Amino acid sequence: MAALEILKDIYWVGGVDWNIRDFHGYSTDRGTSYNAYLVKDEKIALFDTVKKEFKNDLLHNLRQVIEPEKIDYIVINHVEMDHSGSLPEIIELIKPEKIFCSPMGKKALLEHFHREDWPYEVVATGDSISLGKRTVRFLETKMLHWPDSMFSYLPEDKLLISSDAFGHHWATSERFDDEVDPNELMVHSAKYYANILMIFSPIVRKLLAQVQELGLEIEMIAPDHGVIWRENPGKIIEAYDRWSRGETTDKAVIIYDSMWHSTEKMARAVMNGLQKSGISHVKLLHARKNHRSDIITEVLDAKAIILGSPTLNNNLMPAMADVLTYMKGLRPKGKIGAAFGSFGWSGEAVKQLNSYLGEMGIEPLDPGVKIKNVPDHDALKGCVELGEKIAQAMKGS
Ligand code: FEO
Repeated sequence: MAALEILKDIYWVGGVDWNIRDFHGYSTDRGTSYNAYLVKDEKIALFDTVKKEFKNDLLHNLRQVIEPEKIDYIVINHVEMDHSGSLPEIIELIKPEKIFCSPMGKKALLEHFHREDWPYEVVATGDSISLGKRTVRFLETKMLHWPDSMFSYLPEDKLLISSDAFGHHWATSERFDDEVDPNELMVHSAKYYANILMIFSPIVRKLLAQVQELGLEIEMIAPDHGVIWRENPGKIIEAYDRWSRGETTDKAVIIYDSMWHSTEKMARAVMNGLQKSGISHVKLLHARKNHRSDIITEVLDAKAIILGSPTLNNNLMPAMADVLTYMKGLRPKGKIGAAFGSFGWSGEAVKQLNSYLGEMGIEPLDPGVKIKNVPDHDALKGCVELGEKIAQAMKGS
């Protein structure tokens, strides 16, 4: 990918990672990009860098615009290694006059790179610097999604450089929202929100309110992953508003695992009950056949989460424990929940599934349905009834 001028004298200079498929446990099945931005003014500033392996892409792109040694400032909006891995070598080459970061950013930089000698300039919300014709205003966005995270806002260009926020993992040759499939763009954006930001939804709400209070005019959002919002930055802000409010649709998600298809039959019977009672949008997700990060994406706007597992050695199936540990950490809110499962002799799984629901703040709708060994037609009626009961609760919520 070549450097690209996104606004006058402002360039995308990042790297596109077409081949990454696992981003610390998040399935990036369409790759990602590590975006960095160069602003040419009386002072030349680089906003964020790239993952260590993409250092040469960054340097190649920078050299299409200027000699990297001419860069005066580096702004570190976020210290996570996908944006800072190349930083030591870039600093060594550029020898910047100043490195701007938030207070927590300085702490994180020291803890990651152990360099007391770098020329840190700590900035906080409300601080601004001049690049010449342009100003950069800083807005700390603590815990979105790290303590160090911040936005850089360029008022003269109405440009928000938003770090991880409003991003998505999607490798593309296009750089703007109006150049890609809009539906696919929102699918990747929802997946990103569900997997990275859902836990921080209350903080997202405060930040959206703060951006409104500050009256920031935003005509372009340049995130650190994925395409730049040029045509319609309001679309992703509205989506963050919906997702952070926990807005749901009439969708039920059944997440299950099965050993010899008994729990699978129960899952299908629960689905039949939901559909008989008018819930047409049901996702049946086998925990070993769907990646945890795709499952959590379906959970984002689901009204009901129904969990199924057989009992294996007095426990849940391991894939269910994996998904539920991940889900519990991301704290989905305002869902209806229930559980079911087959068993051979002890049958602890349903109780354990209910415990997971409780830990997520979801009161199970029902004690849950347990069936010994292989269910017959009559036994499955209990699952159909569970589906009907969940459907009624969904309609009443
Ligand atoms: Fe894209 Fe939190 O790093």
